[in-house]
Amino acid sequence: MKFENAVDEIKNRCNIVDVIGRCVPLKKAGSNYKGVCPFHNEKTPSFVVSEEKQIFTCFGCGASGDVIEFVQRYENLDFHGAVQKLAEECGVDLTKSSFGTESRKEVYYEWNREAAAYFYKVFRKSVNPGIAYMQKRGLKPETLQKFGIGYADENWDSLYRYLKGKGADERILLSLGLISDSKGRYYDKFRNRVIFPIINTRGKVIGFGGRVLGDGTPKYLNSPESPVFLKKNNLYGLNLSRQDINKEDCAILVEGYMDVISLYQHGIRNVAASLGTALTENQAAMLKRYTNNVILSYDADEAGKAAALRGMDILHKAGCKVKVLHISDGKDPDEFIKKNGRDAFRGLLKEALPFADYKLALLKEKSDLRTTDGNVVFLQKAAEILRELSPVEADIYVRKLAAETHISEGAIRMEMRGAKSEANNVPSEKRRSETKKTQIGGRDLLERNLIRLMLLKGTYIPRTEPYASAFKDPVCYRIYEVIRSLYQSDEEIDLKKLEDSLDNECAVVLGEIVEHIQLSGNDEQMFEDCIEHIRIGMREKREAEIIKLLEIMDEEKEKTAIEDLTKELMQIQREKSRGGFGA
Ligand code: UTP
Ligand code: MN
Repeated sequence: MKFENAVDEIKNRCNIVDVIGRCVPLKKAGSNYKGVCPFHNEKTPSFVVSEEKQIFTCFGCGASGDVIEFVQRYENLDFHGAVQKLAEECGVDLTKSSFGTESRKEVYYEWNREAAAYFYKVFRKSVNPGIAYMQKRGLKPETLQKFGIGYADENWDSLYRYLKGKGADERILLSLGLISDSKGRYYDKFRNRVIFPIINTRGKVIGFGGRVLGDGTPKYLNSPESPVFLKKNNLYGLNLSRQDINKEDCAILVEGYMDVISLYQHGIRNVAASLGTALTENQAAMLKRYTNNVILSYDADEAGKAAALRGMDILHKAGCKVKVLHISDGKDPDEFIKKNGRDAFRGLLKEALPFADYKLALLKEKSDLRTTDGNVVFLQKAAEILRELSPVEADIYVRKLAAETHISEGAIRMEMRGAKSEANNVPSEKRRSETKKTQIGGRDLLERNLIRLMLLKGTYIPRTEPYASAFKDPVCYRIYEVIRSLYQSDEEIDLKKLEDSLDNECAVVLGEIVEHIQLSGNDEQMFEDCIEHIRIGMREKREAEIIKLLEIMDEEKEKTAIEDLTKELMQIQREKSRGGFGA
């Protein structure tokens, strides 16, 4: 394996501002970014990150280096460890050695950039069919400029002659797919098309899409794969939208170039496109650098639906929370927002269905629930869908499904267990690590789970004590209070006594809890999951609190307090980036 090549590839794919920005809050300052140095104690930010140079420097303690050195110091890893971590994050497979060396790749980037500049220049000329076409589609000059839209004219070799004049080597232009050769002559690949440069998050032009000006075919011509363009590794628009995705903690994933640009123009800026191809694991990993929440907003047609179904599985497996948006008017997000405006699209975003609901709805549509056979098939397929969920999530859906169909909760659970028999054979260690990642559903459910556990074993009552503030639902809190008052060490709670001490409303909820909350058999794991969930919530709240405090505190008068808070904040952020609660 060529390790150096992988290192170059990582540096190409990771933007240092994004990597550092995830653990150190950064603010734009001129062409650089500034923050509080994570490597020494300070209150005024002297830690600077240069996007252009892809390095960090602290003017306070002198720490400096590139993205890999940052990860080394921050995560306390050696060089190889840092490379490994970043490689995972940006989808570089260290076992493969197919990366071109950086100096070789630079040349490809360079000629792509020249080509993009040329297309752009032609597009900017007074009148040309390209700009007329884009204007007709409702795009404003500033939007077109933002996305670097260009135009390839109708001549056979305008671009070729231009690049040749600048000293380009035909072999490079050929492998970039900018030209083709026939009988000893070279021709431009993109002719009479509007050009969409595809730019990675490091700002390098890696490929192009070209759209015909009317109804010709192919509608879009795309660059072939090349040393700098691997389709599975890119999302169109992410170079512009990644900061908005980060800020909004949500990415809207669309199918096409025009969807991205159109949404962006209308002020929906946390958007990127998979460009009509099936979503890949690498693309999911890229999105995860900025958010865990993805809303799929694919075309309303059958192809779009199928692509959404595949995409959501990939995203779910990558650990994203996926929702699916249904375009109710028009064929794609571009058409919808042009017709109905931003607020209407925001409305659709709000109504987006969590992916399990979406799958179940599709399944229901296709099933005939009036016949026994139809019910059986439906039940089997529904169980398959629920199997992908964490036990707590699945539980919610079991109840929902039972209420909506005439199938009993018991039957659905049985079907799920049947379908799960294979999973039950995996070694307990593996299962444990899988359940560790499961989520504890909504708040309400979390509280109900805890109550159920406390009723199961009295020992959970004192263990819950430090987290009493987690009971937000007033009814659950009242139940908890009574449980606590009845608790005697080494004794289980007497359900009858508890019921007698509760008011009506509480007694009803208690009845629901006892009847509906299923304990999977591993109650200790469930308890730990609940507590971890609460601690994550508390940590998040404390983080927000500290950031607010630091903003308003007086730098002169409250020096030591600021230092303490900064330390605490750094500790929280370190824990968060490690994803645990280790010391
Ligand atoms: P669509 O056919 O939905 O195109 O393909 P679109 O984005 O709505 O484009 P307009 O609005 O008609 O201009 C979705 C995506 O699939 C890819 C492109 O990336 C396109 O944006 N595609 C489509 C191709 O690569 N080639 C094609 O011939 C068609
Ligand atoms: Mn379209």
